[in-house]
Parts: sequence; structure tokens; C-alpha cells
Amino acid sequence: MANLSVNIAGVTLKNPVITASGCFGFGREYEDFYDISRLGGISLKGMTAKKRLGNPPPRIAETPAGMLNSVGLQNPGVDAFLRDDLPYLKTKDTVLIANIAGSTVEDYCEIASRLADSEVDLLELNISCPNVKEGGVAFGVSCEGAAGVVRAVKRHARQPLLVKLSPNVTDIVSIAKAVESEGANGISLINTLLGMRIDIERRRPVLYNNVGGLSGPAVFPVAVRMVWQVANAVKVPVVGMGGIASAKDAIEMMMAGASAVQVGAAMFSDPMAPVKIIEGMESWLSGHGIADVGEIVGTVRPWS
Ligand code: DOR
Repeated sequence: MANLSVNIAGVTLKNPVITASGCFGFGREYEDFYDISRLGGISLKGMTAKKRLGNPPPRIAETPAGMLNSVGLQNPGVDAFLRDDLPYLKTKDTVLIANIAGSTVEDYCEIASRLADSEVDLLELNISCPNVKEGGVAFGVSCEGAAGVVRAVKRHARQPLLVKLSPNVTDIVSIAKAVESEGANGISLINTLLGMRIDIERRRPVLYNNVGGLSGPAVFPVAVRMVWQVANAVKVPVVGMGGIASAKDAIEMMMAGASAVQVGAAMFSDPMAPVKIIEGMESWLSGHGIADVGEIVGTVRPWS
């Protein structure tokens, strides 16, 4: 059996497969399918300081390329999470990653403070939600914005801080370096890619918000490219996501430089996807005589 355990920012995961934020809620919906303690980690639904209802429907649309969403960070708020969801999640043997979002720098700091004494293992600073008017991706599209929020949150956070980056930028490497220089302990990418579809009979966008974030197979090559670029530019660990649907995708993402991966939209068509990916990685590694999954990280050999 190959060793699948990995270390991200000082936290050990039993395997490198994490469910992506927003696609797994707080876990309960999936427990009838498999023992969620099998997961390397769970990135929880993006949490804000106060409860949010999100954007008006329609806010999810399936397309052949993948899923478009404009959910708008619907969540119960950090206090309800601590009261209602964390006690349940702590009965599971998996790493808990709190994805946190806000409209202002102060919002992010407030959530980090509220979580500081909790049993959450890692924070994932979401500066890349494309579906909210204030905050969200506004912090993630400039080096200054990204650096400012990381600097502030680092003063309040007790857990190691991953920073989740947006693909809707032209200078991903500069943004990654900016957050690393402010003390980010890891970088996760990519959040969803802005897209749009139109219902031609109604001449209306399929989403009430008009535009939304695309996930699924179409974004996988974009994610591999961005993970590769970032992993080559920073020293902190990189967590790769965006369209991963199979063990081979996960291995490809790790060869690009990711130390762990997140699986999102693939779970909507197959709830078992993360477990199949864990099992498929193990057999691929064993079949190739590789003893430890860490041995493949960043091993792509560029042509030039
Ligand atoms: O595509 C996304 N949708 N990315 C996020 O970070 C949040 C989510 C939402 O709630 O809109």
C-alpha cells in the first residue's frame, strides 16, 4: 500500500483528497453515501460573520462544460456553524477547513477571531467568490487587496491560513507571491471561472445574476496551468482544484505542483467521487511502484 498521507502547513491529512468548499455543505448530506472520515479533509461551505441567504434564484445551471453557480455565499453564519455543525463534524476523523468570506477586512478578522479557539484545523481565506457585489473576489484581484486582507487576518488567526485564489485575474503569480509574503501558510486555487449562458427562447441569462462561476471539466486545464505557475513561484504548499473528477486528474494536479487536491462539482454527478479518487490514487501509485504520494508532487518535466 502506498502512503497517501500529506502535510499541509503543519497539519497531517490521511490522504490528499479534500472536498471543495460549497459542494459538501457541512458534511451531513453525504454521510449516507460513505464514511466521511475516509476523506483527507473537508473544506466547509464559505462562512460569513452573519447569516446570508445568498442571491435570488435561478442560481445554479448545468451546462455541458460544467456547472455555473451564483449562489452568493448562502450560509448560516459563523456562530450557527460553531453551535450546530462543528460538534457533529468533530465526531469525524478528518481535517476540517473553515472557508471564510467577508465584505470587509474587518469581517474576515471577526470570523478568524471567532474560530480561533475552535477545533477547526485550518482556515481557507476566500478572496475569490465571484458572486457577491461587495468583498469576495474584490480582494483577490489585486496584489494590494489580497496582501491587505491576509496581513490583517494573520493577526487574528490561530490556525494556519490557506488563501484561496481566483482564476479571474491576469497576474496569478504576483497575487500568490503577495499573499505568501504576508504570511499565508498555503495557497489553494482555483475558485470558479466567470461565465455566462443564455436561454435563447427567453433571451434571458440562465442565472438571475446574469453571470456566475463555472466549475467542472472545462476549467480543469485552466486549473492545472495556474497551479503549475503558482507552485513554481512560491515555497508554501499549494492545494489544487478545479474540475478534478478522477484519480488521474488528481495525480495530474499533483504533478503540476499541488500537495493536495479538492474535489467539487464532480460530487454532484457522483457523490462517491472523492472515495473513488482516493482508491484510484492508491492503486495507481502502487501499480507504478511509488511508495509515497509526496513523491509525485511537482514532478512534471516541462519541455523547455
Ligand atoms: O463559485 C463560487 N460560488 N465560489 C465561491 O467562493 C462561493 C460560491 C457562492 O456561494 O457563490
